[in-house]
Amino acid sequence: MSTVIVSQDEILRYNSILAYLKNEISARAEEKGRTLTYFIRTYGCQLNEADSEKLAGVFQDIGLIEAEENEAPDFLLLNTCTIRENADVRLFGNLGMYKTWKIQNPDMFIAVCGCMMKQQENVDKIKKSFPFVDACFGPADIHLFPSILEKKLNQRKRVFSISEEDYLVEDNCIPVKRKRKFRALVPIMYGCNNFCTYCVVPYTRGRERSRESGMILKQLEELASQGYQEVMLLGQNVNSYGKDREEEISFAELLEKAARIKGFSRIRFMTSHPKDISDEVIYTMQKYPNIERHLHLPMQSGSDRILKNMNRHYDQAQFLKTALKFRECLPDATLTTDIIVGFPGETEEDFQQTLEVIKKCKFDSAFTFQYSKRPGTKAASMPDQIPQDIVTERFGRLLELQNELTFESNRSVIGTTEEILIEGRSATAYNILTGRTRSNRLVNFSIPEGIKYQGKVIDTSDPSFDANQFEGVLAMVKLTGARPFSVEGELESFIDG
Ligand code: SAH
Ligand code: SF4
Ligand code: F3S
Repeated sequence: MSTVIVSQDEILRYNSILAYLKNEISARAEEKGRTLTYFIRTYGCQLNEADSEKLAGVFQDIGLIEAEENEAPDFLLLNTCTIRENADVRLFGNLGMYKTWKIQNPDMFIAVCGCMMKQQENVDKIKKSFPFVDACFGPADIHLFPSILEKKLNQRKRVFSISEEDYLVEDNCIPVKRKRKFRALVPIMYGCNNFCTYCVVPYTRGRERSRESGMILKQLEELASQGYQEVMLLGQNVNSYGKDREEEISFAELLEKAARIKGFSRIRFMTSHPKDISDEVIYTMQKYPNIERHLHLPMQSGSDRILKNMNRHYDQAQFLKTALKFRECLPDATLTTDIIVGFPGETEEDFQQTLEVIKKCKFDSAFTFQYSKRPGTKAASMPDQIPQDIVTERFGRLLELQNELTFESNRSVIGTTEEILIEGRSATAYNILTGRTRSNRLVNFSIPEGIKYQGKVIDTSDPSFDANQFEGVLAMVKLTGARPFSVEGELESFIDG
């Protein structure tokens, strides 16, 4: 593995491409008599979100503005995911609609990137059946985006740029447009070495490559000084951070150094693999209150036999030991998980084991999935694939149990007052704010009369009232009611205001 740090020369070349694109975009805007727009539709995980923020940075830098979600933009980018089958289906379904947009505006640029592009059959399908797609590139080609755009605009040819190589790019020259003004996504490593037998990620994202801790910490210092309240350290398996580099520190040490940086009120990380999480990570969480009181620990199954066939490298007893240790060390924290139902060969007895572990761990919430057969993975050719009706039936029972536990967890915090990091207005009402507790619980809360912000009483009936102005602000909120998947509350006071 080699780290490619973008050199001064390359930065100059990169900047000259950006300068060309800026000129080109401004000429086109003048021709059309309006500012040109872009939109990025992101599917999949936070790593894709982080890539999309870099791609948005390029668009903004060359003079485009973001379009509304449902209006046809001049530049459309689809950042895809292929973790389960329905993700693929959704992309090809949506492409049909974008074709009509392109017919209305033949100058429109449409590109597809992300994990689906690491599967040759998807690229072939786009080449052959979707000629209106202008460019395809892979997850390892994000830093090449300006030159891909330049090739298309300059030479007017379709561009297919899907790198095979797993190199790690310290893409320190790419501008980033962060989606949330309070949250910075920071990948600390790329790829995955685990080859869980059901999973495509090792094929789409390549082998594990940790970034240099010095670079990560420098970036974190900058983000803190820019005023970001929250940072999310990202990787498919953050607990194996540094193991691919002899000289590197461990994830627990990186987390500790991040927590000591002044400025962040919340440090989050995902995802933790149960086989690699060390006690030090749990102790570090205990020691630093600015680390989120939440651990996402994907269990996948509670059956030893299934875990072995999944190639997870832990058994039920080891998982329980970690989960219960976490509960004991951080009793106020939340513990969440991922579960797959219907893995090949799963019997009723195996499934019962999963339910048993869920009851013991009392997960505060869980992402539950029906097993999806992914071409090229080991599990796809395993015998005894489970019929859909059995999967659906087990999935129903799993949801029933987990939903009850989630509701119970939400009820357990009623009556307490917690610090909330506000994310904006709630989806349901203009005067209800939404945000998260330190333990990542979603809270929707009202603003009672008489509350002051920056010296002024808030009047939610004033037509100029905009709940989104509080994005990134910390507040104390009394938790008053539980809903199945969220908590309700009432604002007591703003912390900074
Ligand atoms: N790296 C993380 C998971 C990333 S994928 C980890 O190992 O914990 C997120 C989740 O998608 C997984 O935890 C798993 O529960 C689910 N998933 C992955 N492949 C799947 C498949 N083929 N079918 C159903 N669910 C799957
Ligand atoms: Fe997929 Fe397993 Fe890697 Fe997670 S650890 S990304 S589930 S292969
Ligand atoms: Fe999907 Fe790729 Fe993430 S397959 S879950 S976008 S790493």
